[in-house]
Amino acid sequence: MRNMTEAELTEVVLQRYQNTPDPRLREILQSLVRHLHAFVRDVRLTEDEWMHGIQFLTAVGQICDDKRQEMILLSDNLGVSMLVNMVSAGVAPAATESTVVGPFYVPDTPAREWGESIQQLPCDDVPLFVRGRVVDVSGAPVAGAQIEVWQTNSNGMYDIQDAEQPVNNLRGWYRANDNGEFLVRTVRPVRYPIPTDGPVGELLNATDRHPWRPAHLHAKVTAAGCKPLITHIFDAEDPYLDSDVVFAVKQSLVRKFEPVAAGARVGEYGISGPCLELGYDFVLERARTGG
Ligand code: BEZ
Ligand code: FE
Repeated sequence: MRNMTEAELTEVVLQRYQNTPDPRLREILQSLVRHLHAFVRDVRLTEDEWMHGIQFLTAVGQICDDKRQEMILLSDNLGVSMLVNMVSAGVAPAATESTVVGPFYVPDTPAREWGESIQQLPCDDVPLFVRGRVVDVSGAPVAGAQIEVWQTNSNGMYDIQDAEQPVNNLRGWYRANDNGEFLVRTVRPVRYPIPTDGPVGELLNATDRHPWRPAHLHAKVTAAGCKPLITHIFDAEDPYLDSDVVFAVKQSLVRKFEPVAAGARVGEYGISGPCLELGYDFVLERARTGG
């Protein structure tokens, strides 16, 4: 164990993890060591460069708090979150596809009534109604499913980034009725840049990448006996669909919000002015039970 070659060092480190009792943890750690060592050899990393990397990761950790999640942002930016989604999603072809959760999810948001707006601020934005059903892959309704939604305000900021917005602005959850039906009221989502005032912003700058996400509404749909779904609905008219900074767009999640003339939906939505609407069904997979 003295005067080792590069290859011997890797082998010795792998051996040290050999007795990890949990076999999955052992597999993950040994593979991580193998790939990290291969990376160092591949680029012939210098000590200065590694120190720079350590300082970068330290800064990523240090800027995190209960509202700022720079670590998720980094993972999203490197395409790792999306790759994990791809290798682990394994959804049935008929089910709604999932995508990244992102760093701005907040649990335990308020319940919203049928068609109640999640926009808590007075604003002139045209309302957007998303109506549909939560069903399983056979088309059967998932009665009582919870549909949690969140999005930015028209300034491109989530409530937790913006002192001007009330807590839980543009967030909340709806309960599907016995037929699996729901009615969400919000406003048209906007494209927005991810935060660039921290180390991930420095990374984007140094690599000449833009920080934009295409306009989207987030949704997390859960129901007893079903696999939870975390997804987005993307606006089909957004120019950033093909260059999302976090690589999270899937074609099946892209929709056009249709304009509705004033007076056409008084009965359904209770508004007399114009609005936008989208018919959208969430298709959940039933959870496998037993062995
Ligand atoms: C989001 O859509 O909220 C988001 C996702 C990944 C990185 C930054 C933001
Ligand atoms: Fe978002």
